[in-house]
Order: sequence, then C-alpha cells, then structure tokens
Amino acid sequence: MNRRMMIESGRGDLAIEDLPSPNMIVTIDGPAGSGKTTVAHSLARHLGLDSLDTGAMYRSIALLAIEAGVPPDNHEAVVALASEHRIDFDWTCVPPRILLDGRDVDDRLRHSDVSEIVSRIAGIPALRTVMVRAQREIASRHPRLVTEGRDQGSVVFPDAEVRFYLDADAGVRATRRALEMQRRGEACDVNEIRHAIEARDESDRGRKDAPLTVPAGAIRIDTGDLTVEQVVSVLVDHVRASFDSEKDDGS
Ligand code: DC
Repeated sequence: MNRRMMIESGRGDLAIEDLPSPNMIVTIDGPAGSGKTTVAHSLARHLGLDSLDTGAMYRSIALLAIEAGVPPDNHEAVVALASEHRIDFDWTCVPPRILLDGRDVDDRLRHSDVSEIVSRIAGIPALRTVMVRAQREIASRHPRLVTEGRDQGSVVFPDAEVRFYLDADAGVRATRRALEMQRRGEACDVNEIRHAIEARDESDRGRKDAPLTVPAGAIRIDTGDLTVEQVVSVLVDHVRASFDSEKDDGS
C-alpha cells in the first residue's frame, strides 16, 4: 500500500515519490551547534514530515529542576520531576513548540541557566530511559518524523529509514551560537561559548549511557562550509536517493 509524498528539493524543484510505507523516520544526530535543530525543522518542512527536537525535552527537565530547586546530581528527584510533569508539543505550530503541563516554555529553554545544567541532566541514565520511551511514543503518534538529538539514530530509532550525523569544527559551532545570541539581543563572548561547547561535547561523548556517537549506517556531513539551505538540499537528495533505491529493490 503506497502513499504519495511530495518532496520539494532544496534546489526548488518539486518531485513526487512513492513511499513504500506510511512510516518514515529520519534521524539527525550531532554535537551542539552543528545546525541540527534548524536543519531538522527545514528538512521536515521540505519532506512534509513532523519534526521533533529531543534536546528541548532534556532542556524542559532542566527547567523543571531549576524551578523546583533540585540540583542535577539528585538523580532520583530529577527523574521524579519527569514523571510528575507532562512534556508535550503543540503540533499545530511549525516548528512544534514545547509545552510543560500545557505551559509554552519554548523561548525559556535556550537561556544560559538551562544550558549550563542540561548536559548533566541528560547524563542521568534513568531519565534517558523515560525520555527514550517518550520519544518512541511520540513517533508512534507521528510516524512520519524528522527527529534530532544525540542518540536518535544510535539508540532510539536504530532502524530509522535514513540516519544523518551532522558535524562541524568547534570554532564554527561557537560562532554560529554567538550569532544566534546576538540576534536575540543577548550579550556573548565567542571564546566562552567555544569552551562551553567543548565541555558539553566532552560530557555528551564521554557519558556511559547513550554517548554521542556516529550511528551505524549514518550519513555523515560536515556543515562547516555550508549554509543551512545547502545542508538541507544535501539531506533531501540523500533521502530521495534512499527511497529511490528502496523502490528499485521492491520492483
Ligand atoms: O541539542 P541541545 O543543545 O538542545 O541539547 C541539550 C542537551 O541535551 C545536550 O547536552 C545534549 C543532550 N541531549 C541528549 O543527550 N540526547 C538527545 N537526544 C538530545 C539532547
């Protein structure tokens, strides 16, 4: 039973593809500042899929911990917060906005107090179990999904139809973050941001549970010299090629 899907390529031309199944999970993993979130939302829009920012889910728990005065090293209390509160997305927005018990906290999640502790929060194994379950549950309700994070292709959706890993030099990533902050009118120091990014990379790559890694079979792309549009165009072409070859195999 084929479904039709429109794929708008990054070059602006339109093509119609036959999807072999109604499910299509595309994962994008990579370190902080590699462009995942922007690229995931744009790719989802091009492909007509929903998009999921799993970093925002960990950031929501970090925000809950801050608000409740729970330190990140109190694992039990942090995990309890995750089960006491409901994380959801407003799927009517593009990109979807994150809701904590129905409260829109999307704009709050990138503040520096959240960024400072989120890596330690994300390193709590029991919390990751809860989040992985929640992400799979979201995918069961939104089976046509571009999902981005650190473990989406390696742990959460290892059978995803297409898996990407985006990377860029730490200096490039720090400059991007600084520009984002300047656009929001926040003061910033690019060297400080670079150190924070490198510390977060080390923590995300070094943790025991679901460390940041290139998923098996992932297409790795260095985004350093590419614009967002160029990255999205490359990804669209890969997704298309993958479905063309699946169609050829099936015929
Ligand atoms: O992508 P981000 O900066 O919003 O992610 C916030 C933190 O959460 C970062 O330290 C990595 C972590 N994270 C994770 O461990 N697993 C995910 N699937 C997504 C994010």
